[in-house]
Amino acid sequence: MIDQQKILEELQECDSIEKLENFEQKYLGKKGEINQEFKTLGKLDPEERKKKGQFLSSIKEKIEKEFKQIKKDIKIKTINQQLNNDPIDITTPSPNLKKGSTTVITKLRRKAEDISKGMGFTIEYGEDLVSKYNNFYSVNIPPTHPATEMQDTIYSKSKDDTNDNYVLRTHTSAMQNKLLKKYGAPLKVAIPGKVYRFEKTDASHDSVFWQFEGVVVDEGINIPNFKYMLRKILSGLLETDVQIRMRPSYFPFVEPGMEVDASCPICKGNGCSLCKGGGWIEILGAGMIHPNVLQEANIDPSKYSGFAFGMGLTRLAAIKYGIDDIRLLNSADLKFIKSI
Ligand code: PHE
Repeated sequence: MIDQQKILEELQECDSIEKLENFEQKYLGKKGEINQEFKTLGKLDPEERKKKGQFLSSIKEKIEKEFKQIKKDIKIKTINQQLNNDPIDITTPSPNLKKGSTTVITKLRRKAEDISKGMGFTIEYGEDLVSKYNNFYSVNIPPTHPATEMQDTIYSKSKDDTNDNYVLRTHTSAMQNKLLKKYGAPLKVAIPGKVYRFEKTDASHDSVFWQFEGVVVDEGINIPNFKYMLRKILSGLLETDVQIRMRPSYFPFVEPGMEVDASCPICKGNGCSLCKGGGWIEILGAGMIHPNVLQEANIDPSKYSGFAFGMGLTRLAAIKYGIDDIRLLNSADLKFIKSI
């Protein structure tokens, strides 16, 4: 016959996992005493079997409950003992920990943002996936215009409510219309962001790269204002006082349009390998905002004028850090990343 009292006393005396395991085998295991006792039930008559069965089940339940509790207590005790004997300071940094840091693009972007904020610009990031309207039509590039061909474009399968496919923005100018509509005039906004082109890549072309766009709209804005501001921004970014040169160029969303060069930050215009002897490096596309672009954003071009520029942040990083293949910047190549 099972002696509940005796078994429970024996359980209380178990003060290690080994003792508990022995106890489990002796009483609770398949061949343990309690199970053996269950096996005798078959020989009893139904009335007796029921009574004894219930009795055995209740004993088993009680012992198992107590067993679990004691096992838990022993485990906690063991862990505490281990911690006391061998204290671990979980706040100590691992000696092998590799520290991460920001990429050169992030550093440059933040610098450009800081400089622009200091000049009163608001920073907006916009979206990477935009409508054709925002990427092209709203900035004076109509559907049939050959300029849509100027930029190799990655289309999405999804369509907007005019049944046009969305595109991965090919330039940060895709945010101009949205922001001009959102804030109205006067406006001073800078848009850093990734842009995407369906491009045959080489050392100076990648299908994903960074731009930094500036848009300024107010009454009486003119090219000298623009030149002054660009000189400030580029001198800040290149960390040396640079000269600015504007050359006529064409972009549908500006009139006049221009390419802006900075005097070479390395040789100060005397000619070196970076500027290929010319003394100037091409940094950005820019111009006075086309009246159609202002009109499309419900801004009166007879009252307001403005300028916009789109600077290649990736290109600038390559110039500043002497990177001869811009694809490395998107490559996650640790050897390269650690070297800059
Ligand atoms: N969006 C143009 C490009 O990606 C750059 C640009 C921006 C030119 C603003 C003029 C004004 O090439």
